[in-house]
Amino acid sequence: DTKKKDMKSTRLELTFYLFYCVSTAVIGSLQFGYNTGVINAPEEKLRRFFHNVSLERTGEPFSPGTNTMVWSFAVAIFSVGGMAGSFSVGVLVTKFGRRKSMLLANVLALIGGGFMGLSALCRSYEMIIIGRLIIGVFCGLCTGLTPMYVGEISPTAVRGAFGTLHQLGVVLGILVAQIFGLEFLLGSDNLWPLLLALTILPAILQSIMLPFCPESPRYLLIVLNQEEEARKALVRLRGCEDVSDDIQEMKEEGIKMAREKKVSILELFRSPNYRQPIIIAIVLQLSQQLSGINAVFYYSTSIFATAGVSQPIYATIGAGVVNTVFTVVSLFLVERAGRRTLHLIGLAGMAIFAVVMTIALSLGVSGNEKNSVPVAPSLNLVLTLFVSLSEQQTTPSLSYLAIVAVFGFVASFEMGPGPIPWFIVAELFSQGPRPAAMAVSGLSNWTANFVVGLGFPKLAELCGPYVFIIFVIFLILFFIFTFLKVPETRGRTFDDIAQGFAAKPSVEPEAVIAGLTEGKDPAPMSPTDKVP
Ligand code: GLC
Repeated sequence: DTKKKDMKSTRLELTFYLFYCVSTAVIGSLQFGYNTGVINAPEEKLRRFFHNVSLERTGEPFSPGTNTMVWSFAVAIFSVGGMAGSFSVGVLVTKFGRRKSMLLANVLALIGGGFMGLSALCRSYEMIIIGRLIIGVFCGLCTGLTPMYVGEISPTAVRGAFGTLHQLGVVLGILVAQIFGLEFLLGSDNLWPLLLALTILPAILQSIMLPFCPESPRYLLIVLNQEEEARKALVRLRGCEDVSDDIQEMKEEGIKMAREKKVSILELFRSPNYRQPIIIAIVLQLSQQLSGINAVFYYSTSIFATAGVSQPIYATIGAGVVNTVFTVVSLFLVERAGRRTLHLIGLAGMAIFAVVMTIALSLGVSGNEKNSVPVAPSLNLVLTLFVSLSEQQTTPSLSYLAIVAVFGFVASFEMGPGPIPWFIVAELFSQGPRPAAMAVSGLSNWTANFVVGLGFPKLAELCGPYVFIIFVIFLILFFIFTFLKVPETRGRTFDDIAQGFAAKPSVEPEAVIAGLTEGKDPAPMSPTDKVP
């Protein structure tokens, strides 16, 4: 019966206007993906630019060491900005609301893009670094603002599918950056400043589109207490006059929220009602980054290059296409299979393909130890392995195995660990604690991203062909955690999900926490709990 009602309301609620608003917000996701992917292709040109600027200024070019330092700095500072941006989301949305925050964030895109775009003209590599930092802050904001707004305006029955649109935006952004980065498009010696500044265009587009979107009705009603405004917004979003169910649900949530004070970050960890969901949110975010996905994404072009692929950028684009296709697959599955199942399947698949990759690599190295290539010393080992695979006359299938492993790894990632952590945080919390929870979990994600990006080359050097075993161990641990602790949120209202975590009177809060830390099932909610 509920199912029928759900289907009926899904049909009724999917209006063009809702799609318009979601698309507008998802431009932020596109921005995050674009700026994540854009720096890879023009590496050589940027390094040459640093070299020339130094030569012009001092009469001497940078030493290779200094050049690498400036380059690494320009890459890594993006994540530092991301940490700051994602952590500021809570304060921003509570003060300005969701829509205005997105509008304000775009100012950063204009400034950051401007700095990078004008850097060549001003002969300043410092402007690239400052620009990357500002764009990082902007992208950190996007990773909180978009999932929050989309989660809040979506009808319950399609909240997961719409939430996955954030990740679809991200992967499309990465793909667009890879394509535009091609030498004959914008990846050339003259046009790279344009490639980096291009982020300004979507920012302008979103700023034009946002004024036609409503503020989140949940924010209007629950935070600002403007019921009429909230109703108007909902009527437009749902495309029907009767939005009493939505209003009723929000009011109930609002009443409960009024009983609590504003939820600070400290309280998230102190209150027995929030401790369990915040731990789940953080661990899921860590599972996304410590799966090793960006070890593949950040270094794929070099990997393919040394694997003997003559046009490595096209192989990287191939990975980008696999990435996009499987995000779409997940989009269609997430409301059927559920978040928990897809996340488990994704983690298991990644672990299996990482093992396959390791087998291929270690066989390759024992079969052909002579080969080595002149590449950055830090990555030399891993790359040598790929080369030895590709050059093995006797077992060429090994090199295919490695490529299949990379593609399978990426595909599994997009089934669950890619999209789900980003939107499930908004689902796990009600209106009061949501901003603080987004801030904390966003910061965890960006910090782990930073650590993997910076640490992987060193690890590859230390572990050689076995480097991905580290990620296999993480993946197994995250699989066990998800299996034991993560509840299914599909088809449930925010309030209902929060209720599931609420410490019930019959259960002492301490017991909940003890359950969590001791690995016992926490009493208030079992992972398979599903309210009809
Ligand atoms: C997720 C991750 C991001 C990664 C991307 C790959 O959005 O947050 O770090 O690069 O997926 O598709």
